[in-house]
Amino acid sequence: MAEHIRVLISEEDVDARIREIGEQISRDYAGKEVHLVCVLKGGSFFLCELAKRITVPVSLDFMSVSSYGSETMSSGVVKIVKDLDEPIQGKHVLVVEDIVDSGRTLSYLKEMMLDRKPESLRICTLLDKPDRRVVDVDVDYTGFHIPDEFVVGYGLDYAQKYRNLPYIGVVEFDD
Ligand code: IMP
Ligand code: MG
Repeated sequence: MAEHIRVLISEEDVDARIREIGEQISRDYAGKEVHLVCVLKGGSFFLCELAKRITVPVSLDFMSVSSYGSETMSSGVVKIVKDLDEPIQGKHVLVVEDIVDSGRTLSYLKEMMLDRKPESLRICTLLDKPDRRVVDVDVDYTGFHIPDEFVVGYGLDYAQKYRNLPYIGVVEFDD
């Protein structure tokens, strides 16, 4: 089936919002260092742009998880494919995610990271689909709340495609 992409959030709007979040994080963490934990692969584009807008000292680490299930539905069972390289004990950890959908991935990751005793733990997501929430999870910084539509771009994929789009788009199928 052929598909096309409808622009939902323009490149300009995404960039402007990331600047704002970066400024807010810089104010909130004034006098501290922030340890950004990126959830691969989707969070990677957001992480890079966000990190450039943060003015307090930043360190980075990466984690990769897979949720068992189909392309567009997560099952709630999260498997760690690549763990963090560094311990997070005593650090101000900020998890950087592409999107919160059911909330299952983040609530699992949050519990797992809290067990490792960070000094603080917050969550930053570029996108949030509140209508899809199954598990409650507190998000500290959100780029945009979006409707329940499957989106791509800025790191988000459909069958591994479209991650490199510089805007957020909705996948529409032609019939
Ligand atoms: P959750 O555990 O249901 O919150 O799933 C979050 C993960 O599902 C995200 O990190 C994405 O990898 C993926 N996901 C959820 N919604 C979308 C979407 O609209 N487009 C692309 N990936 C999505
Ligand atoms: Mg993700």
